[in-house]
Amino acid sequence: LVDGHTPAQIFNAALARVNLGVIAIYQPVELIFNVTDRCTLQCQMCMNHAPTSLVESTAGYHIPCEDLSFDLYKHVMEKYPKAMNVCLAGIGEPLVNSEIFKMVSFAKQKKKRVSIVSNGTLLSSALDEMVKYSPDFISISLITAQEDDFEATCNVSKSTFNRIIEGIRGLIEVRNRMALPMNIGLSCVLKKSRLAIVEPMIELAASLGVDSIDFHNLIPSTLPGCDIGECLFAEDQSATETFSQIPIPPGLAVRFPKLLKREIDVQKCRSFNRVLYVDGRGSISGCYRVFPPDAANGSVFERAVWNNDYFKTQRRRFKRGKVPDTCRYCVDLS
Ligand SMILES: C[S@@+](CC[C@H](N)C(=O)[O-])C[C@H]1O[C@@H](n2cnc3c(N)ncnc32)[C@H](O)[C@@H]1O
Ligand code: SF4
Repeated sequence: LVDGHTPAQIFNAALARVNLGVIAIYQPVELIFNVTDRCTLQCQMCMNHAPTSLVESTAGYHIPCEDLSFDLYKHVMEKYPKAMNVCLAGIGEPLVNSEIFKMVSFAKQKKKRVSIVSNGTLLSSALDEMVKYSPDFISISLITAQEDDFEATCNVSKSTFNRIIEGIRGLIEVRNRMALPMNIGLSCVLKKSRLAIVEPMIELAASLGVDSIDFHNLIPSTLPGCDIGECLFAEDQSATETFSQIPIPPGLAVRFPKLLKREIDVQKCRSFNRVLYVDGRGSISGCYRVFPPDAANGSVFERAVWNNDYFKTQRRRFKRGKVPDTCRYCVDLS
C-alpha cells in the first residue's frame, strides 16, 4: 500500500485477494501498459528485439503495434478508477513515448502507485521530467556490469553502457538532493551460464547508490542461448551457493531470482485475477510475464472486457490446473 490510495482502491484490492472466481466482482488491481514496442536496444534474450528474434508465436511474441496514445491510456484509467498500481513498461523502451510523463502525472492525480520499467538509455535526457513528475518507482534493466559484455549482449556500442550509467548516477544525485519520494532499482536477467555477473552487479548497484537490485530468472524461448537449460532451478547448487556466499552491502535490497521447481502449482498464478495489460491498439492480456496483449483476447473498448470470454476461460483453466506449456517455466508457479 502507498499513502494516498483511496478507500475504494484499498477495498477493491482486498476483494481481489479473497475473490478468485471465474467472474471478477472487482476491478483490476494492476494496470500495465505497453506504451511502445520501439526499442533502443536489441538484447540477446529479448523475445521481441533480439537480432535473431523469430516471427513465430513463442513466449512474448507480439504483433507490431503503434505507441499508446494518452487518450487511450486515459480511457482505461477512467474505466478502472479502483486500480491501485500502474506500470508503464513496454515491449520496447517506454521513454521513447513522448507522452510518458503526461501518463505519470495523470496516474498520480488518480492516486495510483506508478512505476516505469526502462533500459535507461534515454534517462540522461529525461532527468528534468523525472524530477517534475516523480514516478514512485523506476526499475532500470541492466544485463551486465561491464561495458564489453554489454556491447556483446545488447548489440550496441560501449558508449551506450556509459550513457546508461551516467543517467542512473544523475537520477540518484537529483533524487537525493531534492529528497524526492522516488524508489530507484536495477533489475538483471540471470542465466545459468552467467552466474559470475551476480557479484559485479551487486557491487555496481551499491556504488551507484540505488535502493535495490532484482535478479530475474530467464524466461526461456527459442532464441539462441535462451533454452530451458539456462533457467535456474531450485536444485542448481551452483546458483544457491553463489547466492549464499555473496556479501550484501548495507542499505541495498538484493532479491535473488525465484528458482524454478520441477513440480509446479498452477493455482499459484493470480495474474488473470489482478492484471489488465493493454497495448497501443487497445488489445489486452491478463498475463504480466509471458503473454503480451493480443487482439484475439479482446479490447479495452468492450464494455465488460475484464470478464470477457478470454478472461473467464483463462481463470477457469488455472482453477482446473490446465495451463499452456509456456507457463511451465514461469516462476510464479514454483
Ligand atoms: C521487455 S522489457 C521492456 C522495458 C525496457 N525496454 C527494459 O528493458 O527495461 C521488460 C523486462 O523484461 C526483461 N526481459 C527481457 N527478456 C527476458 C527474458 N528472456 N527473460 C526474463 N526477463 C526478460 C528485461 O530485462 C526487462 O526488465
Ligand atoms: S531493452 Fe528491453 S525491450 Fe529493448 S531489447 Fe532489451 S529487454 Fe527488449
